[in-house]
Amino acid sequence: MSKEKVQIFDTTLRDGEQVPGCKLNTKQKLVIAERLDELGVDVIEAGFPISSPGDFTSVVEIAKIVKNATVCGLTRAVKKDIEVAAEALKFAKRPRIHTGIGTSDSHITHKFKATREEIIERAVTAVAYAKTFVDDVEFYAEDAGRTDNDFLAQVCEAVIAAGATVLNIPDTTGYCLPEEYGAKIKYLKDHVKGIENAILSCHCHNDLGLATANSISGVINGARQIECTINGIGERAGNTSLEEVVMILRQHPTLDLDTNINSRLLYSTSRMVSESMGMPVQPNKAIIGANAFAHSSGIHQDGVIKNRETYEIIDPADVGVTESAIVLTARSGRAALAYRAKKVGYELTKLQLDDVYQEFLKFADRKKEILDQDIHEIMHVCKIAEARAV
Ligand code: KIV
Ligand code: ZN
Repeated sequence: MSKEKVQIFDTTLRDGEQVPGCKLNTKQKLVIAERLDELGVDVIEAGFPISSPGDFTSVVEIAKIVKNATVCGLTRAVKKDIEVAAEALKFAKRPRIHTGIGTSDSHITHKFKATREEIIERAVTAVAYAKTFVDDVEFYAEDAGRTDNDFLAQVCEAVIAAGATVLNIPDTTGYCLPEEYGAKIKYLKDHVKGIENAILSCHCHNDLGLATANSISGVINGARQIECTINGIGERAGNTSLEEVVMILRQHPTLDLDTNINSRLLYSTSRMVSESMGMPVQPNKAIIGANAFAHSSGIHQDGVIKNRETYEIIDPADVGVTESAIVLTARSGRAALAYRAKKVGYELTKLQLDDVYQEFLKFADRKKEILDQDIHEIMHVCKIAEARAV
């Protein structure tokens, strides 16, 4: 039986682009949007059209070129925002307006100086107004992570009745624990009238490093959309990372959930976003970091050379990485040295390997990492000729 689909809502070009120093021009955004469409994301949040003329133009141009994904524009629960978003999305094949308002007591009291009743009224008015422009309206309850579940359920029920088709439950401040966030989604599933007509969406921030865990907990408890970004970029500590949630669902078939993502494009998409935003990816980043498939200790290298699965749970080819890397350092053993030497053209006998290994250790103590060029040098010192041209 085919697995149930979790929609991937990519917000690299909106929440991701809010990061200081990550600003993209329209041309760069178009290249990324085209790639996201090819990657297979279900929704591209293209921007916040009212925020600037540049963002407006980007949303217009993205809406024109995206072939498959829904194109979404963010708004506040403000009429003018909604009108501008609708105008920016007018060329989209599948337009979505994403409108919403803060629902936690902290937002209601300090940001809006309003009452809970007024917040529900503003939410309903915004959704109903957005609905006059497009069929597909997503509502976000900002700071839902710290919103009382009973009030959150009341808001959700009211906006569904007003026409919202997707309910975004953001953990805006990245505060929730996975169990707590999952329980929130389950509470809404169990208590909101009409919830069967809407999709619950997870939008988790990474302030405590829990964005991915919270999103997974959300879908285990009934959410069917995850809002995420390439490389996990986004406000402060970032958003849920797209590559992580996609591969978690793929690597855990017992969850019976999958996405439409072509995972073989993950690595190249990550590089593309990192380069155009000038935002380096940490080497130990899960799935797409430079070290995600690199093995450097002798024990691990020996295991991986004998059978990749000894120390790898993902085939690197599945995420577009050519192959696992055996990194040569002073911690590497003979198996790793023989493996890398063979790759650059030297078939070593056991006796030769013993000899070369002693020379290798001397080099490795001087250098952090032994590169292909160093292997040739070591072989030269040991008077070993290449067995074949490579
Ligand atoms: O984190 C958040 O609450 C948001 C909303 C605007 C969707 O980004
Ligand atoms: Zn956010």
